Amino acid sequence: MTYRIAPSILSADFARLGEEVRAVAQAGADLIHFDVMDNHYVPNLTIGPLVCAAIRPHVSLPIDVHLMVKPVDRIVPDFAKAGANIITFHPEASEHIDRTLALIKEHGCRAGLVFNPATPLAWLDHTLDKLDLVLLMSVNPGFGGQQFIPSVLPKIAEVRRRIAASGRDVWLEVDGGVKTENIAEVAAAGADTFVAGSAIFGSKDYAATIRDMRSRLAAVPRARA
Ligand code: DX5
Ligand code: ZN
Repeated sequence: MTYRIAPSILSADFARLGEEVRAVAQAGADLIHFDVMDNHYVPNLTIGPLVCAAIRPHVSLPIDVHLMVKPVDRIVPDFAKAGANIITFHPEASEHIDRTLALIKEHGCRAGLVFNPATPLAWLDHTLDKLDLVLLMSVNPGFGGQQFIPSVLPKIAEVRRRIAASGRDVWLEVDGGVKTENIAEVAAAGADTFVAGSAIFGSKDYAATIRDMRSRLAAVPRARA
């Protein structure tokens, strides 16, 4: 099992973002998770393509852009040009999900759908064969530092079953309230990619925190649903 750790720069020091992304890359991160909020789809406003382009030269790690915006399509090419590698969006924020997925791929990025805690998995029915990843929110989107919602655990297991049945290599990423204390439980439910904002950027030693997460992941039993 390959596990990936994706620090969310939402909890980084925005005044020193270049330094912060270099620090987590150096500390052993696998991806840079980039939270885009528009004060419309979610009640907060963060960073856009200009900031993505600004951090791009500082890291060679893939940049995992999580769009919490509505509409979606207008901004996709801008993020691709800004150096994004992965672009995920919330299906209810797009008028034409299939078109948005195609647009992301046409621009050379990997594509994924994001599910809020109460968003039904029915959106996977006609899309899973086109997805490179599924992102399950374990908090309601909009803010870092919230509590993990445990009712998402069976939902993770259900998505893992659907991915296994598809026979495709689709990443299963979980976002919100993931910490060293619960990362093993999230992995045991079936996740392979872990977003962690406050748990990493709120810690004194990023490398020690990522190492601790990896050692907890190494102890997760392999058996799967
Ligand atoms: C929430 C964002 C998350 C958030 C995670 O809307 O999508 O990526 O930054 O932060 P933590 O790990 O602090 O819950
Ligand atoms: Zn996110």
